[in-house]
Amino acid sequence: MKSAIEDYFPIVDINRLAVPERNAFKPIYTMHKWFARRSSSVFRAILLGALKPAETDIMKEFYKDHTNDPDTKGKVILDPFMGGGTTVVEALRLGCKVVGVDLNPVAWFIVKTEVKSVDLTELQAAFDRLVSRRVKWSGKPLKQTLLSLYKTECPECSNKDADILYTFWVKSAPCTTGNCNYLTPLFSDYIISQKKPSIRYFPNCSCPKCKRTFDWEIDSASLVGVQKLMVNSPGFSAGEGRSNTRWAYSSNNKAECPWCGEIVIPVSKSHKAKRKKVPLSVLYCPACEEVWQYRGELADNVQCPSCSRHYNPIEGNMPEKGKFICRGSCGGNVDAVIAAIRTLSKDHLLPTRPYVIEGYCEKCAGTKVKEKEKDTDFFEEEELEVKDLRENGSSSDALLKKNSGKFFKRISSSDQALYRQTEILWTDNKSQLPYPLSEVPEGEKTKSGLIAHHYFYWRQMFNCRQILALSTLLDAIREEPDLEQREFLLLAFSDSLEANNTFTRTITRRKTPGGTAPGGVFSRHDFQPKMTYGEQNVFGSIAGRKTFSNCFEKVREGKDFNLNIYDRLVKDTNLIDVQSLEKINSTPDDVLLMCQSSADMSNTPLADQVITDPPYAGNVNYSELSDFFYVWLRLLLKDTYPQFLPEFTPKADEAIENKNRGKSSADYKNLLNQIFKEASRVSRADAQLIFTFHHAEDSAWEALLDSICESGYFIEAVYPVHGEAENSMHLMDNEAISYDLVHVCRKRENGTSSSHKAWATIKHDIRRRAREEARLIESGRYGNEPLAPSDINILLIGKCLELYSKNYGTIVDHEDKPVPLRRALEEIKMLVDQLVAKDRPFPTELEDLDVPSYIYFSKLCGYKEISGDELSKSTRGIVAPSILKDYGLIIKGRENRGRSFEIKLPVERMNSLKPKFAEKASNQAQLFDDDTSTILTNDVLFVDCVHFLIGSAELGEQVRPWLQRFGGLSPQIHAALEWLIKYPGVTFKESAKKVLNLMDERTLFTTQG
Ligand SMILES: C[S@@+](CC[C@H](N)C(=O)[O-])C[C@H]1O[C@@H](n2cnc3c(N)ncnc32)[C@H](O)[C@@H]1O
Ligand SMILES: [Zn+2]
Ligand SMILES: [Zn+2]
Ligand SMILES: [Zn+2]
Ligand SMILES: [Zn+2]
Repeated sequence: MKSAIEDYFPIVDINRLAVPERNAFKPIYTMHKWFARRSSSVFRAILLGALKPAETDIMKEFYKDHTNDPDTKGKVILDPFMGGGTTVVEALRLGCKVVGVDLNPVAWFIVKTEVKSVDLTELQAAFDRLVSRRVKWSGKPLKQTLLSLYKTECPECSNKDADILYTFWVKSAPCTTGNCNYLTPLFSDYIISQKKPSIRYFPNCSCPKCKRTFDWEIDSASLVGVQKLMVNSPGFSAGEGRSNTRWAYSSNNKAECPWCGEIVIPVSKSHKAKRKKVPLSVLYCPACEEVWQYRGELADNVQCPSCSRHYNPIEGNMPEKGKFICRGSCGGNVDAVIAAIRTLSKDHLLPTRPYVIEGYCEKCAGTKVKEKEKDTDFFEEEELEVKDLRENGSSSDALLKKNSGKFFKRISSSDQALYRQTEILWTDNKSQLPYPLSEVPEGEKTKSGLIAHHYFYWRQMFNCRQILALSTLLDAIREEPDLEQREFLLLAFSDSLEANNTFTRTITRRKTPGGTAPGGVFSRHDFQPKMTYGEQNVFGSIAGRKTFSNCFEKVREGKDFNLNIYDRLVKDTNLIDVQSLEKINSTPDDVLLMCQSSADMSNTPLADQVITDPPYAGNVNYSELSDFFYVWLRLLLKDTYPQFLPEFTPKADEAIENKNRGKSSADYKNLLNQIFKEASRVSRADAQLIFTFHHAEDSAWEALLDSICESGYFIEAVYPVHGEAENSMHLMDNEAISYDLVHVCRKRENGTSSSHKAWATIKHDIRRRAREEARLIESGRYGNEPLAPSDINILLIGKCLELYSKNYGTIVDHEDKPVPLRRALEEIKMLVDQLVAKDRPFPTELEDLDVPSYIYFSKLCGYKEISGDELSKSTRGIVAPSILKDYGLIIKGRENRGRSFEIKLPVERMNSLKPKFAEKASNQAQLFDDDTSTILTNDVLFVDCVHFLIGSAELGEQVRPWLQRFGGLSPQIHAALEWLIKYPGVTFKESAKKVLNLMDERTLFTTQG
């Protein structure tokens, strides 16, 4: 039975859902970090398309309840590369049974916890047990113990019980000159945070004494809580839209007039307070280490209020990434940070010190910060009228109230003392606590990102306080008696590792609600040591990202989602959540998760469909990156699950391209091949294989297509989905177009036809097929909005591949040589290009040209010179530009320092063409017969013949005998000459006309005779 996805996939609707999803994954998919997660909407649509019969409207089905749908219920879905479990979760929703396989134990553990049913009350109870569990070394409950590691004194009210939200650390590098020895702190600038709070004020109040007017502000704009550290720009500090108005702040009914300095009761014209935004920057002073605030647009020359030094806050000691200027006596030696590291002995990291604290004082926050509001930046205030203020004043006049009690402050001696104390605690207790002892194994990512920077052990990625807090937390989780709950707590713990290490960047600008929340170690898919890092409160106070309490909350929400699933719907450009009736309430009978290589799946039940997302060459180094989590997870899981016994995640069997491990692209391809074959073996004869694949490079795609064909499948359709702005036309101009492609494949029927098929015939059918499909697309198959040309190209190529791949291995060219996929793909791309190129329809006589000739006639013949960029665009991924060079059609240009190409003229090619034809001339009267595919011989291109004729005409050499020899190609040559004569920019039209006249003369002559 034909399935819906074989004919059609709702790419436009799905793109609309996939784009926002990549920015906000649904809760079940955020329970733990996994690299390169896919959009679940894409997989839901794929599953429905695979399981529902042809003609089904997939988008209609998308929002229906499939709990008891006979098309989906009980169907066995196999995903041999389950990763973060997108297929597994989406299939379970549809009532399918699922077999998920992944080599990586971390992936396995994540998916296992994602699909496991849990009683939410029990989960909460386990968390409550955990936080109150007594810590051996402190004798106090866990939560209290962990929070006590992060306490500081509030700069405004001196409350000693304020929480540290973040500690900012900076590394220093020793001078590399040998005698200077100075340690330069690696600041790239001195900006700690920038915010624009919106404050309430009464505009243009007048002073009863001097009669002049000013803004009376009733909210304080302070991020530091200490008046003498709050500096105002001498120019404009009144805030956005208030230009150089003067202002005064007061939370009661009296204010100091900014003109006459008298304490007065300002006279306001309006009764309601207005709002304005005030730009604030928190700055660090490199001379005295003060942390202070600058109000107004930041200037490039500021003066520290503590030591009076002037400096430029945006100019640190790092002129570019990875380089630093020594600020010592050597006079400004510039060198790479990595060179400075090499001067250290192997057991030393760059020295690090804390330089700022961001904290939270509950007392200064006032009474209005409720639990829910704590995470937002500025809580909502009720409208305030002048008279209220007159009568009551505001409820608290703490400077920090407006900032929810949060503040920035310099490191004090007691902060330093507290940190030193944690170092002692760690040394005293580490033998009792679980933490990873493993070394960092040498790999592609670990070598450059960790080992080169002297991180030889995983534990070195954490500072003393972090590792004390984390191992204490893990120790308490280990004591949870309920095995299931313990694993959920462990999952939250493991995910929190990502943002509680010394590789977490602080984000100074207001990108996140917290303003300073750190980006985790895997913001990119590698290890990248940071020159400054943000240490957050491991347990979590009122702000933070991936603190342990945040992560637990995410796990809770993920589990809640299992029973309260929603899908997103686009309605008039808005995204709304629609509740689904489906649930993930899986029993062991529904889901089988295996942690092993998929190269051998003998132990799995027969699958109805195979739906997956294979790794893309060397794009993401799953196993190396996941060791970061694995070495911690292993401490609690190795006694229960044998896959956690080895010291690291398995590397040898991973399907990946990785030079460091000696895995070539051929190895990668062979393993994929083997796994596809195995998937075919363990699935039913009519099972489809459907998978997404990231496509950026043609060569990787070619290898993949080839391996599908080799493993016995044929390709029925390829659909593009992309995460960038939907259908943007600019994609076409993009040199390296990158999509995710959905491939729909079925098993080839074996043995029925081993007889050879002529490529020319198949190409004929392919062309017809592509025309049909192009017509369908044009008539609105994918909706009313036009598709991007690159999308149309992919769709058509997909349909063309079907006929080729169905007959894979049996197709031969006119010389009886097998046609490899590479060649077929090239010709298919050319054919599709002809179909979609509307600007200058190509004559039918020239449809079957060899590829370089096609590029020449369709894109290049009107140019004398072309830039490299322009050339890549012209070749449109059909062939590599270098091929054109190899055939002598273009040469590197002289202009533009070789970044352009000259298109050779026919006469310029004569010297190289003559010998080519001389060889041929010796034995045959007629060089080519009229089967056009015979033009595609090894070294003679069709364009060579045309150029040879034109060149000969231009040089006054004999043309007529050659016309005779090329007789079989007459119609094509004739069409090509006419084409050139009409083509704008062609400079050798006269000679082409000469040849054309001779041809016509000859025709006349032959018809007469
Ligand atoms: C692209 S990811 C899958 C991502 C998943 N679709 C998601 O949305 O999270 C590919 C997965 O293949 C796994 N893998 C690599 N080689 C494997 C092998 N030989 N057997 C099984 N799984 C393998 C990797 O560990 C990785 O998790
Ligand atoms: Zn306070
Ligand atoms: Zn005044
Ligand atoms: Zn200073
Ligand atoms: Zn120096």
